[in-house]
Amino acid sequence: MKMMKVMMLIVMMMMVSEGSIIEPTCKETPDFSLCVSLLNSDPRGSSADTSGLALILIDKIKGLATKTLNEINGLYKKRPELKRALDECSRRYKTILNADVPEAIEAISKGVPKFGEDGVIDAGVEASVCQGGFNGRSPLTSLTKSMQKISNVTRAIVRMLL
Ligand SMILES: *[C@@H]1O[C@H](CO)[C@@H](O)[C@H](O)[C@H]1NC(C)=O
Repeated sequence: MKMMKVMMLIVMMMMVSEGSIIEPTCKETPDFSLCVSLLNSDPRGSSADTSGLALILIDKIKGLATKTLNEINGLYKKRPELKRALDECSRRYKTILNADVPEAIEAISKGVPKFGEDGVIDAGVEASVCQGGFNGRSPLTSLTKSMQKISNVTRAIVRMLL
């Protein structure tokens, strides 16, 4: 009887964990908790395969870049003295949205993840270049860090497809 209960418990645990590869996949990335929270926030996450997870994270990169660009646009009025750096950032984040993201989506959808990796890495690089333009007094520091972290997590997952 006791044995039966233990076995049923094991079977139930297997059923719960079956299907979602989010946790085991995120364990292989540099930021497990960020990875899990981003992927669990998307309804497609629980049934996605590895490339599906990569595509969800690329969507998150897109969302964060859009949010950052809005923040940049708002800063022109509040911090006019930062115009030069903001112009540079604006260009960088537009590159993420108009080049890196579509390139990565296309590459992964078509099964050529190597090119997807380039776009994902570049998103982090663009964010760092933007950050560097403020000489240590960036009003975008936390958004920059978020982009670098998502870029790193996404890169780790894209590399699993290579
Ligand atoms: C992202 O990865 C690069 C290269 O491995 C590392 O130098 C950097 O510290 C990481 N950035 C963050 C925010 O985790």
